[in-house]
Amino acid sequence: GGKKAAAKDSTRKNGGGSDRLAAALATFSMDLPALPAVIDERAYRSGNYPYADRPKRKHYQKELRALQIELLKLQRWVSDTGERIVIVFEGRDAAGKGGTIHRLVQHLNPRSVRVVALTKPTEAEAGQWYFQRYIAHLPRRGEIVLFDRSWYNRAVVEPVMGFCTPQETAHFLEQAPTFEKMLADDGIRLFKIWLDIGREMQLKRLFARKKDPLKHWKLSPVDLAAPSRWEAISAARDAMIAATDQPAAPWTAVLANDKMRARLGVIREVLAQLPYAERDDRVIGVPDPQIVLGGRNFLH
Ligand code: ADP
Ligand code: AMP
Ligand code: MLT
Repeated sequence: GGKKAAAKDSTRKNGGGSDRLAAALATFSMDLPALPAVIDERAYRSGNYPYADRPKRKHYQKELRALQIELLKLQRWVSDTGERIVIVFEGRDAAGKGGTIHRLVQHLNPRSVRVVALTKPTEAEAGQWYFQRYIAHLPRRGEIVLFDRSWYNRAVVEPVMGFCTPQETAHFLEQAPTFEKMLADDGIRLFKIWLDIGREMQLKRLFARKKDPLKHWKLSPVDLAAPSRWEAISAARDAMIAATDQPAAPWTAVLANDKMRARLGVIREVLAQLPYAERDDRVIGVPDPQIVLGGRNFLH
C-alpha cells in the first residue's frame, strides 16, 4: 500500500515525470546509444538521496585535505602502538569503492597500508574454507588493510550471479559473525562499509564507464549484468546486513550518490571511532547522519 501511494504522490508532484522514468527503466539497456535524459536528471536524487544540491568542490577539497592530515596521525598511532585495522568496502558496481579507497590511502605511507582487491577464487582456493584466502591478507601489527570487496562476495555478488549456491550463502551468513567476532576479540579493529547508490545513479555511472577510456576496464561482465539484477542485489544486501550487523562488527551504510559527501563521510566515520594521538575533534566533527547510517537504521 505505502509504496504505491508514494509512487502516486511523486507522479502528481512532477507532472507525470515518474511515468517517463518508469518507461526509461523498463526499456533500459547498456547497449543504448545514449543514457536516457530522464535517468541522467534523476540520478542524483535516486534511491531517496536526501540532498538536492551538490557540495562545492573547493569546500570538499579543503575538508578532504584536513581529514587526510588526520589519517596520517592515525597511521602514525597505528604504527607506534601496533594496532591492526581492517576496513571492508562493499557496494554495488559503480558505488565508488575504488575512488573512496583511493582518497583514504592517497597520502599515507604505503609501507603500512595495503589495499586488497582479490580476483575470483582459483581452483585451489575454491576447495578451501571460504574465509581462508582472506585470512592471509589480514594486517600484521601496525598495519591498516582496506578490502575492495571482501569475504562478503559470498553474500551478494556470488549468489546473485550464480557463482555459489543458496546453501553456501546461508552457511556463510551463519559463519561470518563468528569469524568477525574472533577478529575483534583478537584486537583487530574492523570497519564494514556499504556504499549505497540509487538505481539511476548506477546506470549513469556504468554508462559513463562505457565511454571513458580511462574507466572502460572497470566495466566487467558482472557490471553489465548489474542493472537487470537490481532487485536481487537489494534483497541480498538486506539479508547480509540483517545477518551480520553485530556489536563486535557493525555495518555502516553510506549513501553515496554524491561521491564527495560519501568520501568525507567514510573517512570521518573511521576517524571518529579511533583514539589516535593528537586527534583533532574539530576537524573530524560528526559524520553527517543523513548520509552515514548504522546497519539497523539503514534497513528501516
Ligand atoms: P569489481 O566490481 O570489483 O571491479 P567485477 O564487477 O568484475 O569486479 O566482479 C565483482 C566481484 O565478483 C569480484 O570480487 C570478482 O572477483 C567476483 N567474481 C567474478 N567472477 C566470479 C566467479 N566466477 N566466481 C566467484 N566470484 C567471481
Ligand atoms: P573516481 O570515483 O575515483 O572514479 O572519481 C571520479 C572522478 O571525480 C575522478 O576521476 C576525478 O576526475 C573526480 N574527482 C573526484 N575527487 C576529486 C578531487 N578531489 N580533485 C579532483 N578531481 C576529483
Ligand atoms: C566502484 O567504483 O564501486 C568499484 O570500485 C568498481 C565497481 O565495482 O564497479
